[in-house]
Amino acid sequence: MQINTLKGIVALAAVLLTPHAGVAQTPVVAPGASARQAVSGEAVYQERCAQCHEQASGRVPPRTAIQNMTSVRILRTLDFGAMMTVAYPMRRDEREAVARFLGKPDPEPGPRPEAFCRDRTVKLGDLSKSTWNGWSPGPDNSRFVPAALAKLTAAQVPTLKLKWAFGFQGDISAFGQPTVIGNQIFVGSASGMVHALRADTGCLQWVYQANGPIRAAIVAEPLGNSHALLFGDLTGWFYALDAATGKELWKKRPEEHEAVRISAPPLVYNGLVMIPIASWEETRAINPDYPCCTFQGSITALRLRDGTQAWKTYMVPTRAEVTGKTRVGTPTLGPSGVGVWATPTIDLKRRRIYVTTGNNYSRPNTGTSDAVIALDLDTGRILWTRQAMTEDVYNSSCIQATKGPSCPEGNGPDFDFGSPAILVRTSSGRELLLAGQKAGIVWAFDPDKEGAVVWQTRVGQGGINGGVQWGMASDGEQVYATVSDTVITRTASATMLDGTRGGGLTALRIADGAKAWYAAPAPCLATIANCSPAQPAAVTAIAGVVFAGSLDGHLRAYSAKDGTVLWDVDTVREYDTVNGVKAKGGAIDGPGAIVANGMVLVNSGYTRTGGIPGNVLLAFAPGN
Ligand code: HEC
Repeated sequence: MQINTLKGIVALAAVLLTPHAGVAQTPVVAPGASARQAVSGEAVYQERCAQCHEQASGRVPPRTAIQNMTSVRILRTLDFGAMMTVAYPMRRDEREAVARFLGKPDPEPGPRPEAFCRDRTVKLGDLSKSTWNGWSPGPDNSRFVPAALAKLTAAQVPTLKLKWAFGFQGDISAFGQPTVIGNQIFVGSASGMVHALRADTGCLQWVYQANGPIRAAIVAEPLGNSHALLFGDLTGWFYALDAATGKELWKKRPEEHEAVRISAPPLVYNGLVMIPIASWEETRAINPDYPCCTFQGSITALRLRDGTQAWKTYMVPTRAEVTGKTRVGTPTLGPSGVGVWATPTIDLKRRRIYVTTGNNYSRPNTGTSDAVIALDLDTGRILWTRQAMTEDVYNSSCIQATKGPSCPEGNGPDFDFGSPAILVRTSSGRELLLAGQKAGIVWAFDPDKEGAVVWQTRVGQGGINGGVQWGMASDGEQVYATVSDTVITRTASATMLDGTRGGGLTALRIADGAKAWYAAPAPCLATIANCSPAQPAAVTAIAGVVFAGSLDGHLRAYSAKDGTVLWDVDTVREYDTVNGVKAKGGAIDGPGAIVANGMVLVNSGYTRTGGIPGNVLLAFAPGN
């Protein structure tokens, strides 16, 4: 299609003009290219929406119904709502243009007045105490909650009962990882709303509207006499807010590429905010006219005080250049990919951070994909790289039944790392880096020998959605790994999950990687649509207990000794919420359960891979 090809060239020019730190800047301009032109929302509608929404029938709302929605809501539908899959090949400017063309310019209504607390004061106190602040309660990324923070014992777990439910207005996924500091919670949402709320009652103190969906935990950090809240969104924006008021301190795009997404919390140390940068570009490559690919993953360190850049380290050694053409004549570019999906792990003793990386999107492949990479804590310089798998060159055009033109020859399996490395110490005093790969393998690397492999144990079959996907937990004796292993069937009109396959929780001894026990998944009832026993969500542990969610909507607590189920709650139902929003539970995926100060918090609802929709944050506490 002509329009598309033109857009392709414009996009190509734009990416070729994008600077790459540390590499000489000689802009290469494609023949006939001009500066990026404004995209026509009407043209995008005709090309990508009209075939369904002009002859609307059944579930499909007609164009006139969509025109009654606000542009903001339509954009969210494309970003992480019902039209997410349709929007995968669409660039940011195309999404914004079609939303503006179709929708009303009005803002979305905010929370109801009765959702707010009577006293809206935010009290943070000492951040070294009683906090789950970021991906994990501690800097080792183990997701082990010490007794003083958990304030929940194994004996109390079977008595956990729902204390309150909080609904996310208009969303069909709930995935913002809650941060808990004393009685204070901060949590993002699929609609990009940041909420400050009280842990005991779930009432709101303030809200802040970000540009895009927020999945990553919000990190609170002292700044002057107050605290800054630091987080990124799934459209590549990064924010610092004043914790007391929710007012913006600064806001940046730490990487210029249009398809950037920030999926994990930053690591904050000594006035530096180290941000893991990943992208959506893999899915843009579904469009045969998209010149694939130019995004390059990085850790970008910004200064806490003002958001200016201190350093940036790309996970790919050189900037992308034109490498050839696809079978339909679209330019190919590389090297690309190697996004960073997880929070870095800090090692103060060795003054390093460890970064886990994703796959390449296009050729040439680099020696840095699917790897653990050690960076100097002060400068960001790469010290060593250890690959779990080589030549994993993959993008979403490879998923189609007949591989799309942008799928690289002999493509890889997309077995990258989606979760951070855990720094543990065995009983004999040896330190190890544990990392769970989407291949379904748990690795132990030696931090003193440039990441040499100490052991590796297979815990699942692996797949595009994991294998180990969102992450494991370790109590210093064992590491607990769930697997997704979802089996997905895609047709033109639907994505279906196999209700009998996927899931499983394995406990491995960290000393040697031997299996201690295995808890089999629970197959779904055939009557539940979109149900799957898969367990992609991150695992959490307290002394004696392991918490793991499932796409079947259950959150289960297992005995750390032998894997028996101590507690099991089915979250798939409707809820009366404290903020008066109609809410439902669904699949549990993403950041998993948070345990802090006598409460277990979990998000329910996740449609990204066809799972059961939902829009609720649930808080459980021990009863009698
Ligand atoms: C392949 C068919 C198809 C295409 C193409 C398509 N849609 Fe849809 N759209 C649907 C269906 C089906 C629904 C109803 C979804 C549901 O109820 O879960 C829907 C629902 C919607 C909704 C309402 C969502 C809500 O939360 O209520 C919006 C807005 C929308 N589409 C916008 C778009 C835009 C904008 C495009 C083009 C970029 C588009 N759609 C392309 C099939 C399509």
